[in-house]
Amino acid sequence: MNLVTIFGGSGFLGRYVVRQLASKGFFIRVIARNPNDALFLKVYGKVGQIQLLAGDIKEENKLGGYINGSDCVINCVATFFETRAQSFINLHIDAARNLAKTAQKEGVNQFIHISSLGASSKSSSRLLKSKGVGEEAVLNCFPNANIIRPSLIFGNEDTFFNRFAKLSLISPFIPVVGSNTKFQPVYVDDVAKAVSLLVETSQQKRYLDLGGDETYSFTELIQILLSEINRKRIILKIPFSLARVIAATNDFFRFILGDLVPAFLTLAQVRSLEKDNIVDVKSEKFSDLGIVPMKLKIILPKIVVRFKRG
Ligand SMILES: NC(=O)c1ccc[n+]([C@@H]2O[C@H](COP(=O)([O-])OP(=O)(O)OC[C@H]3O[C@@H](n4cnc5c(N)ncnc54)[C@H](OP(=O)(O)O)[C@@H]3O)[C@@H](O)[C@H]2O)c1
Repeated sequence: MNLVTIFGGSGFLGRYVVRQLASKGFFIRVIARNPNDALFLKVYGKVGQIQLLAGDIKEENKLGGYINGSDCVINCVATFFETRAQSFINLHIDAARNLAKTAQKEGVNQFIHISSLGASSKSSSRLLKSKGVGEEAVLNCFPNANIIRPSLIFGNEDTFFNRFAKLSLISPFIPVVGSNTKFQPVYVDDVAKAVSLLVETSQQKRYLDLGGDETYSFTELIQILLSEINRKRIILKIPFSLARVIAATNDFFRFILGDLVPAFLTLAQVRSLEKDNIVDVKSEKFSDLGIVPMKLKIILPKIVVRFKRG
């Protein structure tokens, strides 16, 4: 049976990819910085089916050892804000390039790289720009790589609905930057199904934009959430001009004091909210894989049930 090596397999999306692949009978090797934190993955497979290995995607010289013997390598690693140890450049570009280069050199059959909808080397957001340059770097080194670009992902462990639901417990206001920015939220297990289908059918060179069938503005997403948890809160629409000032201040203090200051709003996030996050009509999408995406309103009640009033 084929061996699939996953970097970021313990993350939000990665764990669903591991579960889908395990259910199809693949042997899976997960490279994690803290394998103890990834032990929960073991129950997704039979005894010996899922192997956890300590490793960091930034360790260029060790990548060959990590992926040795793999038929497929999947990169689910990313960061949404930079820390002293992990910048967008070293994670989304350098590490992605090194992994793709090593996979090509080791003769790995298939490479799957998870990027983001809106990623572009021309983006004004440092986050989306690094993801766009990262895609190009991966394709330069592994021309047959598959690139997956999800919109906002929802699911039990997501940071979007869980974060705003938590905020609603303690605050009468929900601040929103990019109130009219549109998203096509996508269910985490649908993205994992797409990845697992590519692996099962050994597909190459697919470039897929994955969004759900419905489009919502940021404000509409918060309204749906508040209605689901039965809480009335004031949605505070923060204009981009003010958001940029707040974010630049947050970035400045993080630059000076490092990770002691939490990244509650970064300039990279604000810039990425300036453009709609929706699938281009010309892109390859779920329908090209024969997958019908799950609707947000069916899954959301299960995600936020613990925040529901009454
Ligand atoms: N979540 C979304 O809404 C969304 C939307 C669009 C695209 N995406 C993309 O989907 C992919 C997965 O995102 P996610 O939401 O699952 O992120 P996540 O939950 O933050 O998972 C990231 C994973 O990467 C691992 N990781 C981080 N640094 C690493 C390193 N140096 N070496 C090895 N592993 C490392 C993390 O493990 P540890 O930190 O525990 O080591 C974690 O398992 C990313 O490419 C992201 O850009 C996500």
